[in-house]
Amino acid sequence: MRLESPAKLNLALHVLRKRKDGYHELCTLFHRISLRDTLCLQKRRSGIRLSCFHPKVPKKNNLVVRAFELLKTETQFSGGVSVRLIKRIPVGGGLGGGSSNAGAFLLGMNRLFRLGLSQSKLVKLGARLGSDVPFFISGARHALGEGRGEKVRPVTFRRRLWFLLIRSGRGLSTRRVYQGFRPKSPRASLTRVEHGVKIASTFLAKGKVAQASEFLQNDLVESAERMRPSLMRMRAQLSDTQLGTCHMSGSGPTQFFIFLSRKQALQALQKLRRSGFSRSIFLCHSF
Ligand code: C5P
Repeated sequence: MRLESPAKLNLALHVLRKRKDGYHELCTLFHRISLRDTLCLQKRRSGIRLSCFHPKVPKKNNLVVRAFELLKTETQFSGGVSVRLIKRIPVGGGLGGGSSNAGAFLLGMNRLFRLGLSQSKLVKLGARLGSDVPFFISGARHALGEGRGEKVRPVTFRRRLWFLLIRSGRGLSTRRVYQGFRPKSPRASLTRVEHGVKIASTFLAKGKVAQASEFLQNDLVESAERMRPSLMRMRAQLSDTQLGTCHMSGSGPTQFFIFLSRKQALQALQKLRRSGFSRSIFLCHSF
């Protein structure tokens, strides 16, 4: 069985407060994109065998392996599976690659072994693996995420947006970026923040990127930039190109620009190259 495992962008990410369980309460706007990994599943007698040529993909504590263990302990499942993972989503980039792999794997296993697990059971299992996994299980293209990100509310969104994703060196640890977050005072209320995110979403749906961008903020930027000061320099450099606002996804370090067409995105890519920007840049769209 061949499965697509797409990445996500957090078009906006507001951190409301730190919770007693150590997680942070969020209001985020998830958007599924065409940059994707592929998973191939094949039945085997028992256990899991994961193969992946990408050097940065963890083999031991991989979320796919943990999803397999969870299926064994929490459901009637007792078989085995070989998984081949073709990795294209940057690892530790704030694009949810590992969570997407786990989500696709759970959905795929449910079909391959006819486990009969309901969507809500899969979401519950997914939430135990990571805060972003339920978004991928939901199948939504565009959604509000609340709680620690696991409470997903799909939002209708018909427009295809285009993105340039700019990588910045090695990945960042999500846990460490959250640890470095410094709460704002006064604390933002969920109602107000959610209102802003919905306005941004409506502007985007109408193709008003500049207006939307004023509402698309990511509260983890400062922490990520404190951990990696070169990110701040890169943001300044990207702003100088005047291609619009440069945003950061999740806990970073991937930054992105939003466009309304492939043509606009390609022109921007040429401009970035002409201004000497040599980092890896991905062109992708809503998916
Ligand atoms: O949920 P996930 O395993 O992806 O989160 C990784 C780490 O990021 C958590 O252990 C936690 O430190 C931090 N985190 C957080 N608040 C969230 C999501 C993640 O503090 N809403």
